Amino acid sequence: MSVFQMTRTLDEHAADRALRKDVLRGMTRVPKELPPKWFYDARGSELFEEITRLPEYYPTRAEREILLERAREIAAVSGARTLVELGSGSSEKTRHLIEALPALETYVPVDVSESALTGAAESLLEAHPGLNVHALLADFTAPLHLPDSPGPRLVVFLGGTIGNLLPAERAVFLASVRAMLSPGDALLMGTDLVKDEAVLVAAYDDAQGVTAEFDKNVLAVIDRELGADFHTADFEHVAVWNREHEWIEMRLRARSAVTVKIRALDLVVPFEEGEEILTEISAKFRHEGVRKELAEAGLELAHWWTDSAGRFALSLSVADGSVDSDAVD
Ligand code: SAH
Ligand code: AVI
Repeated sequence: MSVFQMTRTLDEHAADRALRKDVLRGMTRVPKELPPKWFYDARGSELFEEITRLPEYYPTRAEREILLERAREIAAVSGARTLVELGSGSSEKTRHLIEALPALETYVPVDVSESALTGAAESLLEAHPGLNVHALLADFTAPLHLPDSPGPRLVVFLGGTIGNLLPAERAVFLASVRAMLSPGDALLMGTDLVKDEAVLVAAYDDAQGVTAEFDKNVLAVIDRELGADFHTADFEHVAVWNREHEWIEMRLRARSAVTVKIRALDLVVPFEEGEEILTEISAKFRHEGVRKELAEAGLELAHWWTDSAGRFALSLSVADGSVDSDAVD
C-alpha cells in the first residue's frame, strides 16, 4: 500500500516572514532584485511546466535524453532505496529514475511549491502504488531535516536549478548536500552548459511570451501576498547573457517612471523609466567548473554524462574519499 506524507518546514507564517524580508531588502537596494524562489506559487509552477514544453527551452528535453539513456547505469551505481529530490517540481523526469531503481522504497521530494508537491505525489502514487512518498515543503537553501528512511540514498537536483544560485550560495548549498551523504550515497545533478548566446537568450525570451509571464508572476505574488500594486503591464521582461559570469540574467524593466506601494511593508518604491529588477540568474557551466565546485564542497565527480548535442550535463558525485577509482569516467 502506498503512503503519502507531507512535512511542512515552511508554515505560512515563516513563508510570509521570508517574503517580507526578501522584498524589503530587494526593493530598497540598488540595483533592485528579487530571489527566484518567489516565482513558484501554483501559477508560477504551472508556467514553469509550460516553459519546459517550449521549442526554445531545450534544457528539459536534453536532460530527459540523458536520464533515459543513463537511468539503468545510475541505478546500478547507486542501488538507492531512498531518492531525495531537491526542487522536485512536477517530478516529471524523475519518473525515469524511479522506474529504473528496483530497490527504491521512499521518495522524498523537496520544494517550496505545495501545489507542485501534491500534484507530483498524486500522479506518482498512481503509477507506483508501493512507493512511500514523504514530501518536504521546504527551502533547500536552509538546513533540511530528512525523514528517517533506508540507505543508500540518491540525492538528485535536476533541471539546472543549481544555476539559479550565485556562486557563493552554490558553495554553501553543495557543502550542505555533502553533509547529507553517508558512504554509499550519491548526488545526481543537472547543469546546463555554456553555448551560443543566441540559443541561450531565446531559451529565456521565447516567442510566445511564456517566460515573460513567468518572470512577471513574481510581481503578481507580491501584489497578492503583500498588498502591493505592481501592474505587470508596466514592466517588460528582459533576458541578457552576462559573458563575464557566464549566466543569463532575467530582469523586469519599468517601461516608464512608476511608483509602487507595498502595503504590508508600508513601503513606497519608485522606479525610473528603464530601471530594472534582477529576478533570476541562470548560470551555465563547463565540465571543469562543475568538478571544481563539487571538489570544493568535498564531493568527488564520478560520472559526467551529456546529451548527444552537448547542451546539458548530468553529473554523479560521491562524498570525498569514497569514490571507486575504476568507476571514474
Ligand atoms: N526539478 C524540476 C523543476 C525545476 S523548476 C525540473 O527539472 O523540471 C525549480 C523548482 O525548484 C520549482 O519547483 C521551485 O518551486 C523549486 N524551488 C526553487 N527555489 C527553491 C528553494 N529555495 N527551495 C525549495 N524549492 C525551490
Ligand atoms: C528552474 N530553473 C533551472 C530554470 C532555469 O532555466 O534557470 C528557471 C527558468 N527561468 C526561466 N526559464 C526557466
